[in-house]
Formats: sequence, structure tokens, C-alpha cells
Amino acid sequence: MPLSLENVSYIYGERTPFEHRALNDLNLTFKDGMITGLMGHTGSGKSTAAQMLNGLLCPTKGRVLLDGCDINESKKSRYEAKFKVGLVFQYPEYQLFKESVWEDIAYGPRNMKLSEDEVKKRVNEAAEFVGLTRQMLGKSPFELSGGQKRRAAIAGIIAMKPRFLVLDEPAAGLDPAGRDDILSQICQYKNSENSSVIIISHSMEDMAKYCDEIAVMDDGALCMYGTPDDVFSQSKRLKNAGLNVPQITELMEKLYNCGIDVSANVYTVEDAAEQLIKLYGKV
Ligand SMILES: Nc1ncnc2c1ncn2[C@@H]1O[C@H](COP(=O)(O)OP(=O)(O)O)[C@@H](O)[C@H]1O
Ligand SMILES: [Mg+2]
Repeated sequence: MPLSLENVSYIYGERTPFEHRALNDLNLTFKDGMITGLMGHTGSGKSTAAQMLNGLLCPTKGRVLLDGCDINESKKSRYEAKFKVGLVFQYPEYQLFKESVWEDIAYGPRNMKLSEDEVKKRVNEAAEFVGLTRQMLGKSPFELSGGQKRRAAIAGIIAMKPRFLVLDEPAAGLDPAGRDDILSQICQYKNSENSSVIIISHSMEDMAKYCDEIAVMDDGALCMYGTPDDVFSQSKRLKNAGLNVPQITELMEKLYNCGIDVSANVYTVEDAAEQLIKLYGKV
């Protein structure tokens, strides 16, 4: 069953001088079994929307539906939503706080009141998924590199085996190889656990490469939704929402407009390379 935001509005600091409307009648459904990308300019409400999805923030108006039930209906349903919808914050490395990486990853599964054997199994599996070695698990989180800390934080959420995994800018600040590593591990996780993933990202290239569907937000509301093809072929609408098409798309459009026999609708470097190799042979 999908996870939906239904007519959701959210106002920070309501009835104070700092009142600010971050979500404005947002309607958005995240489908089961998909990787959905959530894009939008800075301040468009992505992180606020993400925090709605597991009950961390409660809508000022509207409902958050999981399996057709309002997650804010009762204390119990809100508590359960925290395990069904796992949220990895932007820069989650700042939230590691236990004495060892192992303990940090075990924190979520322990809260679920699983047996100690099951906790162990899940911590080891999650660590393996994100590429943390046994030796790293014994270290203090503060001894890890930035990328390793990020992996540890993601492992802590994966270890709860949430049906929906929500990642707020999981690759921000990492080098290109680190970004690809983390994003492809997330895809592998999704396929092996049959779960659904929501990724917030600024990178059009990453979105085009990894997402099945893309939702674009503008000023607290949904302004575009579709496959990467649907969304990235509408560069004008994207620009109006304060975003650009991927750089590689701009380059391929320029080549196309110069009369070179390539398609103007190319959204990933891999697809562009394939077309150019076909034309010019391997370099
Ligand atoms: N704690 C807060 N208090 C007041 N306003 C906030 C708070 N967090 C975010 N906002 C405002 O809400 C809007 C949406 O923010 P956010 O959801 O963080 O957007 P995004 O993740 O797309 O950059 C922005 O205008 C932001 O300044
Ligand atoms: Mg944000």
C-alpha cells in the first residue's frame, strides 16, 4: 500500500511573529516498490515533507496515510509509523551518539524490542549492506571518516527494515565515487528487501540515474510528477520551479541543435556515452 500526503499544510511557529507556511495543501503519493525522487529548490518544503512521512512532524492540516490509515490517528499508530517509515536526515552523521558504531546501528532495532539475536543479525546485515567492515563496527563513530559515518547512520535505519526508506540528501557533500556507491547500495537494498525508497536530492544526474518516478515541489506544493523522461523533457517547467535539467541533457541538446545525430532527450552520462560511442566509436 502506498504512502500519501493528503492536502497537507504545515506552518512553522503558528501564531508567532515567526509564522511560516512550509507546506501548502500538498498532495503526493509515494508508490510501493518504487524509488521516488523528491526534488525542489531550497526552501520548497522537501525536508518538512520528509519529516511528515514518519510522524516526526504532524500536519497543521491534512493527513498522512499509510495503508490507507492516518498515521497521526493515535499515539500507537504514530509510534508504529517510526518503524515502518525509516527517515535518514540530511547530514545524519551528526546524530551518531553511542560509544560504538555497532551500538549506534543497534539502537533502532533495540527500540523495536526485537530479541538480542535478531538485533545482532540485523546490525551485521545492515553494516554489510552499506560496506562497513567488522573492524569499523567496534570503533567510536567519531573515528570514522565522513562517508563512513553517513553509511553508519543509513545502516541504523536499514536495520529496522522499514517498508519505506526516506533519505534526505543521502549523497550531499560526498565525492562522485562516494555518491554512486551509496546510491547504488540503496538501490540494492530496495531490491533485496522489496521495500520502497524516497530520495531527496539536488542532483538532477542522480535523480535521472536512480529514480523510477520524480516529484517536483515548488513553494510547499507539488508542481510536477512523472518518470525521469516526463519530468526532464519539460525544461521550461523545471526552470519555473527553480531547477535545471541535468548538465548532460543541456550538452546533448546543444549537440543536437548543432546538427549532430544524437537524441536531445538524454538524462544520464551513461546514455550519452552510449550514443556518442555509437557515432564516433570508442575513444
Ligand atoms: N524549524 C523551522 N522554523 C521555521 N521555518 C522553517 C523551519 N524549518 C524550515 N523552515 C522554513 O520552511 C520552508 C521549507 O523548508 P524545508 O522543508 O527545509 O525546505 P527544503 O528541504 O526544500 O530546503 C523554508 O522556507 C524554511 O526556511
Ligand atoms: Mg532540506
